[in-house]
Amino acid sequence: MPVRFFKKAENNLCFQFWNCVDLFYDMRICGRSLVRYVPSVFRDDKAGVGSTGSQSTHYVILKRIFSNVHLSSDDAFLDIGCGKGRVLAFLVSQKCPCPLYGVELNEAVGKEAEKWASRYKQISIIIGDAFLLDYNKFTVLSLARPFLPKTFYNCVDLLESTLTHPITLIYWYDQQSGNYLKNRSGWELQTTETVERINGIKISSAYLRYSIWTFDPQKKESSCIGPE
Ligand SMILES: C[S@@+](CC[C@H](N)C(=O)[O-])C[C@H]1O[C@@H](n2cnc3c(N)ncnc32)[C@H](O)[C@@H]1O
Repeated sequence: MPVRFFKKAENNLCFQFWNCVDLFYDMRICGRSLVRYVPSVFRDDKAGVGSTGSQSTHYVILKRIFSNVHLSSDDAFLDIGCGKGRVLAFLVSQKCPCPLYGVELNEAVGKEAEKWASRYKQISIIIGDAFLLDYNKFTVLSLARPFLPKTFYNCVDLLESTLTHPITLIYWYDQQSGNYLKNRSGWELQTTETVERINGIKISSAYLRYSIWTFDPQKKESSCIGPE
């Protein structure tokens, strides 16, 4: 019992600590807090379909992930399921040189992102379903676990069937469904890392992993066999 108690207390303390750090940066970048959790508009955990709730990724994690991603002025970045816009806030604070887009299904949450982001010309918020977008407008996509596994598989299938140019995909956190990309034609793993603590401070009650992939439709084997 004491071990469990101390573990729980440590988890709570660390969670509060990172939220305080986040609040500090939110206020500096957005002039408002993006910490509040908003439940999902639709999820069916049993069937593994639907969307997750709106929980902002800690800045400290984004710093770690994006140290592995090079964004140039030729890129167009999209955060799929941008929530209140934390990923976009991080990138704008890092003077990222490309246009930044976020798509958010939950209207109330998307409006929160729109409010603060209107001060940055570089950021556009699209309120709507990520499944209705034309992904050929973007070169770098990020998924901070917006979908339950089967919906994630559908998203990958959509990308594979519609993309005409190479993209980079950042997937945080991927341990539940990321293996779907393994050994898939056209996909190549660039980096993966498991994160449990940063500067000795826990970032979650369980370990979390991110992975960065590239997808090149030209390298995708055609399922068509035989002469045309
Ligand atoms: C875990 S939050 C991540 C928020 C943000 N990307 C971040 O990392 O701080 C996932 C968000 O994805 C949104 N989402 C889920 N399914 C979506 C869909 N089909 N289209 C657009 N947004 C979606 C949810 O409403 C939720 O706000």
